[in-house]
Amino acid sequence: MKVGIIGLGYWGPNLVRNFASHPEVDLVYGCDLSDDRLALIKSRFPATELLKDYNELLKKDVDIIAIATPVDTHFKFAKMALDTGKHIWVEKPFTATSQEAQDLIELAEKKNLRIFVDHTFIYTGAVQKMRELVDSGEIGEIKYFDSVRVNLGLFQHDVNVIWDLAPHDLSIMNYLMPNSKVVAVAANGIANYYDHENVAHLSVYFEDNCFAHFHVNWTSPVKIRRMLVGGDKKMLVFDDMENFEKVKVYDAGVEMSSKEKIHEALVQYRMGDMHSPKVKSTEALSLGAAEFISAIHGNRDPLTCGKDGFDVVKILEASEKSIKNKGRLIEINQLEVV
Ligand SMILES: NC(=O)c1ccc[n+]([C@@H]2O[C@H](COP(=O)([O-])OP(=O)(O)OC[C@H]3O[C@@H](n4cnc5c(N)ncnc54)[C@H](O)[C@@H]3O)[C@@H](O)[C@H]2O)c1
Repeated sequence: MKVGIIGLGYWGPNLVRNFASHPEVDLVYGCDLSDDRLALIKSRFPATELLKDYNELLKKDVDIIAIATPVDTHFKFAKMALDTGKHIWVEKPFTATSQEAQDLIELAEKKNLRIFVDHTFIYTGAVQKMRELVDSGEIGEIKYFDSVRVNLGLFQHDVNVIWDLAPHDLSIMNYLMPNSKVVAVAANGIANYYDHENVAHLSVYFEDNCFAHFHVNWTSPVKIRRMLVGGDKKMLVFDDMENFEKVKVYDAGVEMSSKEKIHEALVQYRMGDMHSPKVKSTEALSLGAAEFISAIHGNRDPLTCGKDGFDVVKILEASEKSIKNKGRLIEINQLEVV
């Protein structure tokens, strides 16, 4: 296979490295407007063929176009790539609007091409382990998500911190609860430095009795990457800053003897054992690249497809509307994607 990568900034070189090391990929093209980025890729990956103009890349005989440019350019590049018959890999967040996401999904379907949305965390050993624990019934019904993803930098020029960081958490949430429907979103935040919020809080409400909260921040002095998943049987903690024990399973919970007579109710707290299951450490991007190539061969959607990208973008869009309206609750209409 031949792969062309547009955007060789912070993230693009990781795509170059992972596609170049896949046994079925015999040529990687890289494309960027910046001479410095092209020179850096040439020095690190000398076998990569480099181009400055994406129109030239689209004329090449490539199977996959991977897009790692700023979010507001994803749609343009993705549409052009599909129009010229290429499968597309698009970085998170998939698109800048849900309408764009829907248009790309429809176009790919019409042309029988595949879309991979890079929700990288889905391919990590930790998230795979969490899904396994949820599917086995060990965690019980999920009642809440509570997540913190904060650090100092990197500011994005075109989107706020929710669009930049929350796609990771939202994609994990959707993956762990594939059958739960998000019905409304509320978000608050502050833009201290320029047009886009650098600190934000996002609340997500579900059709059933579940709630999720995400705290994202580009201006935190410490780096925290921690997610709590509360089940009615057990609870999970995913701490991505841990080197070894990334996932911990707590046999902890709360039981009420009577919900009706709350003043007389006996609240029982259960605090049992904690264990940390072994999680695989293979690099997520290499598994993502392998999954996409396998999906193309199998003429099937990859594990993180256009519809998954669309679902995340719907929440991001609603969060933006909410922030602009000082945290008002925004309902998500369940637009179905064909
Ligand atoms: N999956 C992940 O974990 C992850 C991590 C970081 C970033 N990302 C995503 O990757 C994308 C890029 O983010 P980044 O941090 O690398 O941004 P960046 O600004 O560091 O890099 C973007 C690159 O695109 C290039 N570019 C812009 N317009 C171009 C054009 N018309 N033709 C060719 N090149 C062009 C720029 O010159 C720049 O080098 C974003 O969508 C971001 O959300 C994903």
